[in-house]
Amino acid sequence: MNAENGRRVERSSTRRVLITGASSGLGRAMAVELARQGARVAVTARRREKLAATAEAVQAAGGECLKLVGSVTEPETVRRHYACIKSEWGGLDWAILNAGVGDAVNARQFSAENYRWTFETNVMGVAYWLEAVIPDMVKAGRGTIAGIASLAAYRGLPNTGSYSASKAALVTMLESVRVDLAGTGVKVVTVAPGFVKSEITDRNDPKDMPFLLETEDGVRRILRGIERGERLVHFPWQLSWFVVHVAPNLPSALYDWIVSRMKPRKKRPYRDESGPER
Ligand SMILES: NC(=O)c1ccc[n+]([C@@H]2O[C@H](COP(=O)([O-])OP(=O)(O)OC[C@H]3O[C@@H](n4cnc5c(N)ncnc54)[C@H](OP(=O)(O)O)[C@@H]3O)[C@@H](O)[C@H]2O)c1
Repeated sequence: MNAENGRRVERSSTRRVLITGASSGLGRAMAVELARQGARVAVTARRREKLAATAEAVQAAGGECLKLVGSVTEPETVRRHYACIKSEWGGLDWAILNAGVGDAVNARQFSAENYRWTFETNVMGVAYWLEAVIPDMVKAGRGTIAGIASLAAYRGLPNTGSYSASKAALVTMLESVRVDLAGTGVKVVTVAPGFVKSEITDRNDPKDMPFLLETEDGVRRILRGIERGERLVHFPWQLSWFVVHVAPNLPSALYDWIVSRMKPRKKRPYRDESGPER
């Protein structure tokens, strides 16, 4: 196997895990924590050097690492990455579909391009991986698929329409997949975090992120939920209680009034939307 398609670093006989979007933030921290627990970890992302740093951290934590550079928005890349995992490990036990993007655009400057970019990554990037992994997991009669959605999925938030809508699509998609796969032995976990420190949240003003968690705290909660095979993993409870249980039942006029009082400060723009080699 060459460096372009992936690199086998060392071999073990423990859980085989895929994490998409592992060059920074939650994906990188999950990869290192799972390696610490002894898992074999396949990591994907577009930024080659950052992904290499993740692979080194995984190895330093004692884990085996497959480094797969490329975008989840390219179906042929996803198929190539999965073929690489299958040829090295024979398949996957966990697929953590974590890669995601988001940027703030007020609807007064509505950008269809912003929606296309966000949906290609947050929705289609998951769909391509689902298409790759579901048949083998169903055939094996086991496996866990976890999609990293967001508490932003539950109602439309100001300035983040494309992000909220893409995560809402993801939550619904995962729910349908879970229902369809019931009885096959394959578990589907929907993870909807609040605010967790990462490159995405580094661009926000901390005052706009109530109950912001340390990355390691977020990762601990996510991995515990996946390990238990929970259908829905929401946190922190202070936000998720309101967002998941109260907000969806509020009349629109009351909801609009509440969120119109939220005035998010200007975010730093997303670092770059262009492509794989950055
Ligand atoms: N942090 C939070 O507060 C929070 C809350 C709720 C949900 N989430 C979700 O958690 C997930 C992880 O985000 P994060 O907070 O850890 O932010 P992050 O540090 O920006 O990580 C995002 C990861 O996704 C990767 N990625 C983006 N586009 C990609 C593409 N087309 N192909 C492959 N990889 C891609 C990035 O790598 P490259 O740029 O190198 O490709 C990066 O590794 C996202 O789905 C996000 O929406 C985060």
